[in-house]
Amino acid sequence: MSYNLLKGKKGIIFGALDNKSIAWKIAERAHEEGASFTLTNTPTSIRFGTISELAEKTNSIVIPADATNQKDLTELIEKSMDHLGGKVDFILHSIGMSLNVRKKRIYSDLDYNFLQKTLDISAVSFHKVLQTAFKLDAINDWGSVVALSYIAAQRTLFGYNDMADAKALLESIARSFGYIYGREKKIRINTISQSPTPTTAGSGIRDLEGLMDFTERMSPLGNATALECADYCVTLFSDLTRKVTMQNLFNDGGFSNMGMSMRAMHQYEKGFNCNDC
Ligand SMILES: NC(=O)c1ccc[n+]([C@@H]2O[C@H](COP(=O)([O-])OP(=O)(O)OC[C@H]3O[C@@H](n4cnc5c(N)ncnc54)[C@H](O)[C@@H]3O)[C@@H](O)[C@H]2O)c1
Repeated sequence: MSYNLLKGKKGIIFGALDNKSIAWKIAERAHEEGASFTLTNTPTSIRFGTISELAEKTNSIVIPADATNQKDLTELIEKSMDHLGGKVDFILHSIGMSLNVRKKRIYSDLDYNFLQKTLDISAVSFHKVLQTAFKLDAINDWGSVVALSYIAAQRTLFGYNDMADAKALLESIARSFGYIYGREKKIRINTISQSPTPTTAGSGIRDLEGLMDFTERMSPLGNATALECADYCVTLFSDLTRKVTMQNLFNDGGFSNMGMSMRAMHQYEKGFNCNDC
């Protein structure tokens, strides 16, 4: 259902790889709500993914950019403003990647060059996007910037590896830049901490299926889907949330405030062999 929440708003959406991507659903919902935007991803992801289908569907253009490269970011933002006819109202940062996870380097045996890349791609890129937009004065007053995070930034979940450190930094950048951008330009910056979701990046999480079953049982409202994340994100881009800033907002069915649920306990007890009880 459309509420015209983003009618006339312009934006830039990072991170749609294929139709499982959370950014893909956010782009579809933003389009339904009346926004126009540019889409961006790395040249490799554009080649191997299906972003051009999304561009066609949402009447957008795709501008390649590596979010760790400041020159690419400047060009992206300038081209976006040219194409959209002025400053933007929202930016989505939906980017994550860890070579340590990909190459199966565990947390007690990290490759530090990979760690630098994890932090640069998954967290510092957010600062680079914000700083580039700030210097180009590319966001309208009362605009909104959202990045996607995960609860491993605050709580330890086995197997999330160096991405936990990247997400902690990402959330900190939202607060630190949120102060400056709010004070100077009335622009808000938040992170959404999303339930585990079956996407390409999500499949890097160790035993994603088992984890999703656990979080589903633990969450009173169940896991939040990518589409539910998109619905939430649309409200954060809209004028209905103008005083919400510097927050990490959980979209996780209540998981983050649970200790143990009845459903999870029942499942856990089934795992015991009574001789060991
Ligand atoms: N899937 C989950 O379980 C889950 C849960 C919470 C948060 N998140 C976060 O949501 C965001 C989106 O991930 P997703 O699950 O939709 O997976 P996805 O694989 O569809 O999206 C990740 C995107 O990051 C892009 N990317 C990687 N390196 C980049 C670079 N240098 N420059 C620009 N883009 C780059 C990829 O091309 C891809 O489009 C990530 O920040 C992820 O950590 C995912």
